[in-house]
Amino acid sequence: MQRRDFLQLALTAAAFAPLAGRVGAGVSDPWSAAFAAALEERPWLLGYLGCEDRDYSATAEVEGAWPSALAGRLYRNGPGLQELGGWRYRHFFDGDGLIQAWHFEGGGQVRHKARLVATRKLDRERAAGRRLLPAFGSLPPSVEGVTGADDLNVANISVLPRKEGLLALWEAGSPWALDGETLAARGPVTFSPETRGLPFSAHPRLEPDGQLWNFGYVTGADKLVLWHFGADEQLRRCVVRDVPRIGIPHDFMVTARYLLLVLPPLAVAADGEGALIDRLQWDPQRATRVLVIRKSDLEVAAELELPAQWIFHHANAFEDGAGVIRFESARAPDPGLMTQHFRDLMRGVDADATAASSRWYRYRIDLAAGTVREESLDDRLVEFPAILPRHVGSRHPEVVLLGRDADRMAPHRGLDQVCVVDTGGGTWSGWRYPDTQLPEEHLPVEGADGSRWIVGTALDWSAGRSLLNVFRLDDVAAGPVASARLPYALPLGLHGRFLAA
Ligand SMILES: [Fe+2]
Repeated sequence: MQRRDFLQLALTAAAFAPLAGRVGAGVSDPWSAAFAAALEERPWLLGYLGCEDRDYSATAEVEGAWPSALAGRLYRNGPGLQELGGWRYRHFFDGDGLIQAWHFEGGGQVRHKARLVATRKLDRERAAGRRLLPAFGSLPPSVEGVTGADDLNVANISVLPRKEGLLALWEAGSPWALDGETLAARGPVTFSPETRGLPFSAHPRLEPDGQLWNFGYVTGADKLVLWHFGADEQLRRCVVRDVPRIGIPHDFMVTARYLLLVLPPLAVAADGEGALIDRLQWDPQRATRVLVIRKSDLEVAAELELPAQWIFHHANAFEDGAGVIRFESARAPDPGLMTQHFRDLMRGVDADATAASSRWYRYRIDLAAGTVREESLDDRLVEFPAILPRHVGSRHPEVVLLGRDADRMAPHRGLDQVCVVDTGGGTWSGWRYPDTQLPEEHLPVEGADGSRWIVGTALDWSAGRSLLNVFRLDDVAAGPVASARLPYALPLGLHGRFLAA
């Protein structure tokens, strides 16, 4: 593509912003009032309240035996600021990114810091004292026009530590660079002049040799962007492919030779009223498509079909030696969790989301036969599958994920266990959190001596405190070996990465 075309595409990425100039600003916000009332009755909703517009800093209270080999930083990201100027976002995914850094400093010292990502959007809105820009699932009472997707970038899904600092990742625009120590925002990252403003998803896959792959989607233009970086962190290739009905895929996978993208039948109407979420069209009669893309030339090698399904997150994919690609994912029947549940929660409605929740599935792609097959592996509800970084793109011995027994409803209605699935034997082990705590993503990590751990955060909503637990990866059922508790509560977040010291 020519540079002119890339630029045009970056502008098109803003196509989901509706026209400026809605009326109705200045009225008191019923969602804010409804949420506040619900929070009184159901204090676990604290996880969805949102953070204050301030920096957080504390030394955690540590209990238990902190592993001496576990030093480094756990960076996390998630929707933080949900209310500004008395107006509350209508969707949990909209809050401005809140970056957390948990510093494991050796000797059992744990220091914590959290800061909102000062994006262009947040800077403008803070200055105005109110929301000015449309978000994925919310349309403030009056909105301004935008010139590109980064005008709307909330940098609130995940993080990626790089040599030059930390990147806060969204999925419809550029990564946002931060100082890894102070978490101060530096601005959107441009990898090359030609690729300025192109979308960079929140789920890049970092291979053990240091190569990094990612994708991005431009819904309005039905374009797929593919990114490849060398171990030196320099951009090697960026290409754009036409993919009809690309929708809004959230995650992807890599194997030794391929990139895999799963495209649920969730289209975005070209125009219409409301926020982007109001223009999503789920079509269960259509297939979910699996794109197999060659790493060598970044061309589509195969397009296969599965029954309609929605997947936020995959664990990992690999080639098994017999020309078969295998992967595992948290598979939901439809995107109801995103389109309804995370909206309802913002006004304090806690409908049972069990039917729309994801379960653990295994997939098998036979490229020679041109087939893909899926298999249900367990009835538990699951999310946030994660593997040790050393196994990205190759066979992974275990997966760490959050789960909940299908027949047990926790008082907070969320997932309540951290689980380890042995992918060889198919056995599960797990530890159930107290009912007063809401667990977040848990990650398997390795200590400096090769020891294997799980680190994961949770919100103790009854105490109004966030915490972090460390488990032995090989004995999660024994419960945490050490915990670090903060003096404050932070909203539930999305994804993190561990950077060893
Ligand atoms: Fe995600």
